[in-house]
Amino acid sequence: MTETMTMDAARQKPHMPDAQTVTSVRHWTDRLFSFRVSRPATLRFRSGEFLMIGLLDDKGKPLLRAYSIASPSWDEELEFYSIKVPDGPLTSRLQHIQPGDEIILRPKPVGTLVVDALLPGKRLWFLATGTGIAPFASLMRDPEVYEKFDQVIMMHTCREVAELEYGRQLVEALEGDPLIGEMVQGKLRYYPTTTREEFHHMGRVTDNLASGKVFADLGLPKMNPEEDRAMVCGSLAFNVDVKAILEGFGLREGANSDPKEFVVEKAFVGDGI
Ligand code: FAD
Ligand code: A2P
Repeated sequence: MTETMTMDAARQKPHMPDAQTVTSVRHWTDRLFSFRVSRPATLRFRSGEFLMIGLLDDKGKPLLRAYSIASPSWDEELEFYSIKVPDGPLTSRLQHIQPGDEIILRPKPVGTLVVDALLPGKRLWFLATGTGIAPFASLMRDPEVYEKFDQVIMMHTCREVAELEYGRQLVEALEGDPLIGEMVQGKLRYYPTTTREEFHHMGRVTDNLASGKVFADLGLPKMNPEEDRAMVCGSLAFNVDVKAILEGFGLREGANSDPKEFVVEKAFVGDGI
């Protein structure tokens, strides 16, 4: 009897390898949500890295996608910030997860958006569009960032104001955080902009860098390779355009094995790329 029940249960719910439990879910817009899951006891990662997460498909096979870890390396849980692609194989289903559900999480973090991939500098710029803010949500909450840099500037651009809300609330909460609030105050500068809805600051990251508007607004010198370091995360087109601007300022692209003045990672792989 017990054996039959176990077999029935196993048939209904295929075994999920590397399972972690969802602890909370928050929907920000009809295209964006964030969620937290339990953290494997053995998982060590550097703030800014990504790993593979997913669900089982209809045939019981893992359906995995790359996701930046949005929580800092010291957090007891893991946080993710996700798009909802209407017909997306994973996110059309992932968007319906509830606390208590399980997701697959492969505990093999990798990525270039890590402090170790940059030479020491004075200012660190985080340049993101859309869900590209996820790795910076991790880095912004990491004390190491504030130990190594005098100033940290978070530039985040979305089409609409509501799409900035996850980042805005994160920065607001950080300033009052008992753990690193004091470190952050006066060091973290937040520069959100929109491109398709009226807002107090507008324009693409690329345009605000190239015109010098962001430097004037924040009272900072023009980016230069002696003082400035940058991390870039957005669509492929965004990354390509930002890279050209940073190179125009004299910064060079680095990697884990070859630290330089800036690093780049794709926030997603676009259609046909
Ligand atoms: P897919 O078949 O994977 O994608 C369908 C289409 O949707 C894509 O061709 C693209 O046009 C669009 N799309 C996919 N992801 C995004 C996105 N994030 N923003 C805008 N358009 C998108 N996604 C996240 O939501 N959060 C993350 O933290 C994140 N980190 C990533 C890190 C890396 C290194 C890479 C390569 C990708 C990352 N992605 C992230 C994208 C993610 O891997 C999936 O593509 C996304 O979850 C959609 O999965 P899907 O199966 O529903 O659709
Ligand atoms: P815009 O509204 O002018 O296209 P998307 O939702 O298409 O991924 O875009 C997210 C944000 O990134 C939008 O504000 C968009 O501005 C901006 N963006 C898209 N492509 C680029 C690019 N190549 N360079 C700079 N910003 C970009």
